[in-house]
Formats: sequence, structure tokens, C-alpha cells
Amino acid sequence: MSKIIELIKKIPKAELHLHIEGTLEPDLLFKLAKRNDIRIPFANVNEVKSAYNFSNLESFLNIFYQGSKVLITEQDFFDLAWAYTLKCKEDNVVHAEIFFDPQTHVNRGINFDVVINGIYKALLKANKEFGLTSKIIMCFLRHLDEASAFEILDQALVHKDKIVGVGLDSSEIGHPPRKFERVFNKAIAKGFLTVAHAGEEGPSKYIWEALDLLKVKRIDHGVQCFHDEKLVVKLRNDQIPLTVCPLSNVKLCVFEKLEDHNLKRLLDKGLMVIVNSDDPAYFGGYLNRNMIDCQKALNLSMEDVKKLTVNSFKSSFLNIDKKKKWIDQINNLS
Ligand code: HPA
Ligand code: ZN
Repeated sequence: MSKIIELIKKIPKAELHLHIEGTLEPDLLFKLAKRNDIRIPFANVNEVKSAYNFSNLESFLNIFYQGSKVLITEQDFFDLAWAYTLKCKEDNVVHAEIFFDPQTHVNRGINFDVVINGIYKALLKANKEFGLTSKIIMCFLRHLDEASAFEILDQALVHKDKIVGVGLDSSEIGHPPRKFERVFNKAIAKGFLTVAHAGEEGPSKYIWEALDLLKVKRIDHGVQCFHDEKLVVKLRNDQIPLTVCPLSNVKLCVFEKLEDHNLKRLLDKGLMVIVNSDDPAYFGGYLNRNMIDCQKALNLSMEDVKKLTVNSFKSSFLNIDKKKKWIDQINNLS
């Protein structure tokens, strides 16, 4: 194994853009469909995998929301999150900030408590057994209206101790951040941190709105910033984190191939970029796979790899001491 691949594997990493529903691997999908007696439109794992050919975000979301329907009980959510924590262990991801989409579940009759408790218990177990630290971020579905987001925010308040922040995901184009300005203001007033998907497929204007109106601490994706020189300057000057998801971007045709991805260009311009896996069960790989493939396609150096992982901790919601501990460890790696 080359030295740089070895470095990618062993370096401690934080993952900041990961949808827990997007870690539903085909074998768990089948297991849960059987356990809950739910019909899925696939005969076997191979059929599932061949359905994972997407032309854009919308075509992915249709399959993604269908898959989520097999998640019914607290045990299901536990099993889903536990499986992801084992991937973290394998990839040396030592800290994970995880999205979940409560409206996807509550709107089909699953209790909020069932969802959050299953995820939370798995994360606690992973912390006890192998020291993984984590935070949970609740995303509002932007294709639904703001009233629905207010309702789910109310339900989240009793779980404030388990949820660090709110985010915004689902179909981007036609659903600008400004649609959610009031509910984000309420979330901030209640003590939640904010993040938002912006500039994945949507225009750079949505990134401005996420910053100015939703007061986000990070932009999820953000790769469309490149079309707006003023925005690039702001992102660099303010060191706003962009949680970039390279394999996701290729699978959803944001870039034709990994070689065309602007990750390295953004990094070289001094932007605070981080590599993440988004929905790894659907997009072909967890964090190490994303980093290894990017290293090869974009010719990332050892210094780039270190920079990306230092950025992941700097941009996390860990406290200063924990950030420093991991960053010192990375800087001491040979
Ligand atoms: N973009 C928007 N919404 C999502 C995504 C994504 O990449 N993954 C899961 N929900
Ligand atoms: Zn995402």
C-alpha cells in the first residue's frame, strides 16, 4: 500500500455530512423489509444496486425515501445507526455529526421518540465500546412547507439534549433557504446551531441566503460557489466550512467525473473544505473510499490529506479542547 493511502486510512477523521438514512445498505434494507413485512420493489441485492443509477438529486431522493420506509421500530433505527458506527471504526472516523430526517418518518406514522432514541442509543453504545464521539443534527425537508418544519421543531424540543442543531435537505432547486428563515430563527432562539445544504445543485444565491438568513455555521456541499467570485472571497475570508461530498456529487451528476471535481481547487484557494460521504450506501463508499478516490483523481498530496482532516475537526461542533487534541495528533503524524 502506498504511503498516502496508509495515511488516509490511519489518520483520525471527523465526518460532518452524513445522512443516517443514507447508510441503509441493501442487505439491511432486505432484513428490515422482511422483519416488518414491508414490500419493496426489488427481488434481491443486485436489483437494488442496479437501481442506484441516478441522473440528478431528485432521481436519488425518490429511491432514498422509498428505502426509508422499511424503518419502523426503535430497534430498526438502532440497527441502522449501529451499522454506521462500525463503518466509522473501520475507517478511523473518531467523530461523526449525523443528520436525520424526522419528517420522513413522522409523516408516515412513526413517533419522533422512536427515531431519535434508536439513533441515540446506538451512538451511546459506540461511544462506550470504542470511543466514537458524535452529534445529531435534525434536517428539515425543504420540499415540504415551513409550517411542517415548525411542527417538527416543536416535537424536537423535548429532545434538545440529544440534538445539537438543525439543517436543511432534500430537493434544492425551487426551495431556497429564505423559505425557512422564520423556522431557523426560532431554532436559533431555542439554542440549536444551524447548517444547510446549499449550492449542491442550486445557485450560489442559495449559499448567500443560507449564510445571511439562516445564520449557518457550515454550508453542506457548497460546490456551486465557484460561479460567484465575491462569494468565494467571503467563504475564504470567513473560513466558512463547506462539507463537500465528492462521490455523491459524481453519482448525482453535479460533476461528470471525479477528475472534474473542484475540491482541490477550493482547497488551493484556501477555503475550509472537508470531505464527507453523504449517503454512502447509495453513492458507493464511506469516508475512506471518498478520500482515496479523490486522492487518486485529484492527485492530493500528504499535506492536502492532513489539511482536509484538520479542517474536519476545526469545523466540527466539538469543544476547543477536543478539537485541539485531534488536530495535535494529526500534526504529529509522520
Ligand atoms: N442532498 C439533499 N438532500 C439529501 C441528500 C443530499 O445529498 N441526501 C439525503 N438527503
Ligand atoms: Zn447531504
